[in-house]
Amino acid sequence: MARPKIALIGSGQIGGTLAHLAAMKELGDVVLFDITDGIPQGKALDIAESGPSEGFDAAMTGTTDYADIAGADVCIVTAGVPRKPGMSRDDLLGINLKVMKSVGEGIAKHAPDAFVICITNPLDAMVWALREFSGLPHEKVVGMAGVLDSARFRHFLSLEFNVSMKDVTAFVLGGHGDTMVPLTRYSTVGGIPLPDLVDMGWTTQDKLDAIVQRTRDGGAEIVGLLKTGSAFYAPATSAIEMAEAYLKDQKRLLPCAAYVDGALGLNGMYVGVPTVIGAGGIERIVDIKLSKDEQAMFDKSVDAVKGLVEACKGIDSSLA
Ligand code: APR
Repeated sequence: MARPKIALIGSGQIGGTLAHLAAMKELGDVVLFDITDGIPQGKALDIAESGPSEGFDAAMTGTTDYADIAGADVCIVTAGVPRKPGMSRDDLLGINLKVMKSVGEGIAKHAPDAFVICITNPLDAMVWALREFSGLPHEKVVGMAGVLDSARFRHFLSLEFNVSMKDVTAFVLGGHGDTMVPLTRYSTVGGIPLPDLVDMGWTTQDKLDAIVQRTRDGGAEIVGLLKTGSAFYAPATSAIEMAEAYLKDQKRLLPCAAYVDGALGLNGMYVGVPTVIGAGGIERIVDIKLSKDEQAMFDKSVDAVKGLVEACKGIDSSLA
């Protein structure tokens, strides 16, 4: 059986890391695409040349021609610009919206059966726009944010409790921005919910609050350190986790920016919610019940996403 084909639209920091991870995990043959000639070809060759030492079997090619993504099983989109210190993800909206238009048209023409994972920011609005421009089924177009935000939350919690990250589970919902909602009640250490750990005296509410805030600011913390771009190792790893769930029909329960129509009181929008990813793409939206406080935070985040979608419609009238 032929190996799956993975197309990476955008071959910058995240795109290159995605290619390397996909090769190391032997998820399939990789096509790196970019508008800047030389970058995708150079990265593809460089990664292919790591193959003999690493021992993976995966073809790596680079291209500036959308025709080369033909028949891709998975497309991961990072095309666009990342933020610089002082910028919010929302500041990228105008420029990245134009990029989503060309990417959406390219995917629609050459890889209409692909499972599409969008990483480009501002995430929730860009994945919505990419779906609109591509016309692909909603369950096959999803945004990567919750896996990353939850991973950041899990990492900070593992430091606080001095336990393995493997034993920490966490849920972050809502939009991928300052209003994201880390849900402490649904986050656990060894199965024990965080509020219980506060009651047990293993940590304090103040420390937990600080970790929640650090999670919300997780992307900005890295932008502030790097100064020349934004995070790429953890974003790429998170998207690969989603791609693997699809390609191997793992039925993973992962928080993603998915199209929600009915669940959580929402009708027809993209936002971060718990999902099940398998061979059907987004196979289920998990309709969790929120407390009054959690609902208020989620509503605020939903409103922020709606504001960005309206801004997109204002910029490109074909979306209105
Ligand atoms: N089509 C294809 N590729 C494009 C296009 C386009 N229309 N416009 C820009 N690109 C390419 C750039 O040439 C660059 O190689 O997208 C790549 C982006 O790479 P980086 O600048 O290194 O950005 P990266 O860190 O990978 O982040 C990409 O993901 O997390 C988000 O906020 C981040 O929106 C940003 C995106």
